[in-house]
Amino acid sequence: MASIAIYSVKGGVGKTTFAVNLAWCAATISRRKTLLWDLDASNGSGFLLGIDPKKKRTAKSVFSADREPKKLIQSSQYANLDLLPADESIRTLGRQFDRIGKKKRLAKLADQLTKEYDRIIFDCPPVLNEVSTQVMRAADLVIVPLPPSPLSTRAFEQVVDEVRGSGKSHPPILPVLSMIDMRRTLHREAREANRKWPVIPAASAIERCAVECKPVGEFAPRSPAARGFAQLWTAIERKLAKK
Ligand SMILES: Nc1ncnc2c1ncn2[C@@H]1O[C@H](COP(=O)(O)OP(=O)(O)OP(=O)(O)O)[C@@H](O)[C@H]1O
Ligand SMILES: [Mg+2]
Repeated sequence: MASIAIYSVKGGVGKTTFAVNLAWCAATISRRKTLLWDLDASNGSGFLLGIDPKKKRTAKSVFSADREPKKLIQSSQYANLDLLPADESIRTLGRQFDRIGKKKRLAKLADQLTKEYDRIIFDCPPVLNEVSTQVMRAADLVIVPLPPSPLSTRAFEQVVDEVRGSGKSHPPILPVLSMIDMRRTLHREAREANRKWPVIPAASAIERCAVECKPVGEFAPRSPAARGFAQLWTAIERKLAKK
């Protein structure tokens, strides 16, 4: 089993979009048993997968009451793809981790799922706190979506610091240029300056994910956006194989 965190300290950069589309690629293209683990209270991942939030199933109980995560998992309409949903209670997760006092609580919970899943993908909230620290300890690889702007470069530097601070053997980081529009000079320059980084284009097909409540590969499989996520997923698998 390998776990991949989609993370940035900055909001609205495409984390949830990446998490859902990459989880779909893992399950559908690579046929891996995949769990999408939503750590953000807004429950965007479940929405984009077309899964209704179930009010009683709280992510809180996974962390505080020693409930087995397995009992809270919901299946999606796609083969090999399940969701561990979040809800309001996850907002206090940082405090709960403090109270439990276990440095690797999330990593241990993920380890319990090793037999059931080949890949776990964490959709992270844009925070720098105990939750992000726990995610960095649990993840084998950290993906950082970066729209081309000086602010996201700054956010990237903060992520690098956070990952390095998470322990001696910190996970590798893969920055990905997100929402790139090659008609714009600044975007072209960002692309030129970082030739090795994978790219996800700015695309109306990606915006439509929230209307269709489906990953882009389901309704526009030949679009540049769907191809971008498939290529990114291949790059991720390659990086995991090197570990
Ligand atoms: N490549 C893209 N092209 C066009 N629109 C995009 C792209 N990626 C994301 N978006 C849009 O940008 C918005 C923010 O995306 P998303 O919710 O995935 O970001 P986020 O980082 O998870 O945000 P938050 O920090 O609030 O959780 C959404 O409306 C989404 O449809
Ligand atoms: Mg999000």
